[in-house]
Formats: sequence, structure tokens, C-alpha cells
Amino acid sequence: MYINGRPAESAGGGWLPVYDPSTEEIIAEVPDANAVDIDAAVRAARAAFDSGPWPQTTAQERGRLLFRLSEKVRREAAQLAQLEALNCGKPIVEAEFDINDVATCFEYYGGLATKVLGHVNPVPDNALSLSLREPVGVAGQIIPWNYPLLMAAWKLAPAIAAGCTCVLKTAEQTPLTALLMAEWLEELGFPPGVINIVTGFGETAGAPLVAHEGVDKVAFTGSAAVGKIILRTAAESIKRVTMELGGKSPNIFFADADFEAAIDGALFGVFINQGEVCSAGSRILVERPIYSKFVEAMTAKAKTIRLGAPLDRETKMGPLISKEQYERVREYQEIGKAEAKLTAGGGRPKTFSKGYYVEPTIFADVDNRSRIAREEVFGPVAAVIPFDGEAEAIRIANDTPYGLAAAVWSRDIFRALRVVKAVRAGIVWVNHMQPTYVEAPWGGYKQSGFGRELGPWGIEEYLETKQVYINLNEQPIGWY
Ligand code: NAI
Ligand code: MG
Repeated sequence: MYINGRPAESAGGGWLPVYDPSTEEIIAEVPDANAVDIDAAVRAARAAFDSGPWPQTTAQERGRLLFRLSEKVRREAAQLAQLEALNCGKPIVEAEFDINDVATCFEYYGGLATKVLGHVNPVPDNALSLSLREPVGVAGQIIPWNYPLLMAAWKLAPAIAAGCTCVLKTAEQTPLTALLMAEWLEELGFPPGVINIVTGFGETAGAPLVAHEGVDKVAFTGSAAVGKIILRTAAESIKRVTMELGGKSPNIFFADADFEAAIDGALFGVFINQGEVCSAGSRILVERPIYSKFVEAMTAKAKTIRLGAPLDRETKMGPLISKEQYERVREYQEIGKAEAKLTAGGGRPKTFSKGYYVEPTIFADVDNRSRIAREEVFGPVAAVIPFDGEAEAIRIANDTPYGLAAAVWSRDIFRALRVVKAVRAGIVWVNHMQPTYVEAPWGGYKQSGFGRELGPWGIEEYLETKQVYINLNEQPIGWY
């Protein structure tokens, strides 16, 4: 791990195995952090925030640190992408896109560091009233395994730009790229304690981080179930909290959509990154006139998706992250078979004797009230649901406890925009699904969480507002 500017092992002496999900073999062991390690990391972050050189750094200096980190990530991109693909099973070509986005994220917040502005408040008094923006303090950041280094960047970059210090806990499955990056922080000029990276399980390392009284803010991306636990714990010390909790996002196709683009968009929306995507378009709503043709074309094309080794450049879908996730997704494949009509996949591909591979799977004629339409699978499993007309599309789209994302496909701009307004989701795409850019906000409505990452919204979550009132009268108040 990396605590207070130095490599660290766990005080408990424990190690946890890291797997290559395509071979099921152990490729590394990393410290299995416990509450003692978390305490050390939080103390380091606390000391750096309260009394180190960090509070005296200027926004320019913090911005330049992020620029240097961005450049380093670009220089080491090939190595990082390989390690990412190896550790989480995603196709190398996708991992390369991720690493590019990591560098762009550090670069963006490096630039934004010097654009955080205060206000002059127009109070009706002979006074100068100011709003100052200040860092929230020590951030405890807990990330998932589907985009390991990108999620680290989304958390660290705005926090550093704002002047916070960080304790970042990687997902237990995917610690490797964040640990590699940690090796560079000292030479790049980050003072000790400003970024601490800990590796460990949720219950033994994540939970003590959330509970620690030295932590001011918790940023979490993961399951809704864990989000609820974190909220309860954070309530004890009124920590600031942001949550990104995934969803069951509708991808809505009207009959007038460009058919070929629609089929492509439906598959891309739900199968990219093996479907292990918080914004996966896992409910595919299709208007009745094109429904049968749509299911047929989607099914035919899904069967051609090339599964393979993550490091093979031809691979379009790798294995799932872990045995646990593999079993979860296999179970949903069986649940779906009992609830709807299986048209593609539905099991494990026969060509692989090892690795957590599952077939891209499509269920048609799905009832929106069934489990396969309500519960997040987080794997390559699509639920296709027919609808009649705009009003029904909107009703089905919103009939979910989640509200992270949605997409609508139509050539009718009036209808597309009416649907955009009616859908209760934090991100809505028109005639596409999934493009994600650091310049634009990211986060959910409803049980998909709260708070926004990326763009200027992302840095807001790491800032407090201090109101300053400066009296310009030289006379006594004269009240008593
Ligand atoms: P998870 O929510 O358990 O894990 C996410 C992170 O939270 C990991 O770093 C984990 O160590 C940590 N964590 C777990 N329990 C914790 C606790 N009690 N206190 C503090 N931190 C804790 O997700 P998991 O088990 O890997 O996947 C289960 C399901 O969660 C998936 O099938 C998917 O539906 C959903 N998920 C959603 C993600 C998203 O991007 N919104 C990402 C990962 C999973
Ligand atoms: Mg879990």
C-alpha cells in the first residue's frame, strides 16, 4: 500500500490474493488492510491537511502536480492498460481508452484548480460580505473494480484540485494500477500523506475508513446495498457523502430510429465492458412495430461478439471480474430463463475451460416487474421489453427504483426531447448510449445515489463555503 509517502504492508501481516479472471490464477498479493492500517492512513492524511506544507500550496501548484501526474500516466499508458486488462479482464482496447480518460481527468482538474472562484455577496449593510471556497478536509474514497484506475482518478483529481487530502481504498479485486501509480507520487512532488492508497476488503478496510472520525467526507461508488450501510455509519459524525450506486437504465428505441444504428447502440449500451457498467442500458425498450425485427437482429449480432483473452486486440468481451460476480450473473441467467424468453447466450461459452466468461445474453418479452428487469445484474444480460407509444415508454422507463442513466433513439427531435425531459435520470443520451466525458456531470437520481462527479460539479463536492462578513463602519454597533 502507500501510506504517508511510503510503501506499507498491513500491520496485521495479512495479504490478499489478486487474480487474473481469464485464467483464475493468482497474479499478485497485496496487503489485507485492517482498521490499524486505515487509522495510520487517515492520520497521515489528517496531518498533511492540518499541518503539513499542503495547506500552503497554491491552486497553481496543485494544478501543476495534477498536470505532472497526467503526463506520467500518458507516458506509462501502455503498461497501465496492460495491467488493467490483466487484472480486471476487460479487453485491452477498452483498457487503453480508460487510461487515456484517466490522464484527461487529471489534466482537466489540474486546469480547474485555478478556476475555483468565491463570491461577493450583496448584503444590505456597510460591509463587505464574501463567500470563500475551502477544501472539505480529509476525503475517504471507496471505489469499485469495473474501471479501477479511472474511478481512482474521478475521486482523487477533484479532491487534490480542491486542496483536500485523500485515503483511497481500491476494490479488493483490482488494486494493481492504483498501486503502480502510487509509486510515482513522491517523484512527481506530492507531499507525504496527501494521497494514501490502501488495499483491502469492504468490511475490514472500507468500513473503518467510513467510521473514522478523522475523515470529513466519504465518496463511494459501488452497490446500493453497501451505499446504505455507508450512509448509516457516516451519519454518526455527519460526514459529507456522495454516492454513485449503479442502476437499471432504460435504452429506449422508437420505431423511427435508424435501425442499424439502433441495433449497434442496444448492444454497445449493455455489453461494453462485459456489461459491468453502472450505466449499462440493461432494459432495452422497443416500440412494437419494430419489436420482432429488432430482437431478431440484436440476437443475430450478439452471437457474433468475440469473447477472448483480455490482452488479445481482437477481443470484444473478456471474462467477468471474479468468481463471485460470475456466479451472480449465472444465477441471473437462470432467473431470466424462468421469467422471459431467452434468445441469445444464457450460459457459459463452451470454448473456454477456464476464466469467468459468460455468454452475452438476451431475454425478450420481459415484464418490467420481473427480477431480470428490476435488479442490477452487472454483467452482459439484456432485458428487452416491448412498448406501445411514447407515454408507455416513459412509464416503463421510470418504473424502477434507480435513476442513473437513460437513452432515447428517434429521428423525431420533438419526441426525443419530450422523453429526455420526462425520464428521471441523471444522464440521458439521445441516439447514443455511454459516451462519458470529464467535462460533463455524472451521477444519479433516486436510488442511484446523490452528488455529481466530473466537470465543475465534481470539485464542488470537495469544497466548503465560508461566509466572511467584514464590517466597514468604524462606529460602535450602538444597540445597548
Ligand atoms: P460493493 O459495493 O460490495 O463494492 C464496492 C466497493 O465498496 C469495494 O471497494 C468494496 O470493498 C467496498 N465495500 C464493500 N462493503 C463495504 C462496507 N461495508 N463498507 C465500506 N466499503 C465497503 O460491490 P461488489 O460486491 O463488488 O458488487 C456487487 C454488486 O454491486 C454488483 O453486482 C453491482 O450490481 C454493484 N456494483 C455497482 C457498481 C457501480 O459502479 N455503481 C460498481 C461495483 C458493483
Ligand atoms: Mg460486495
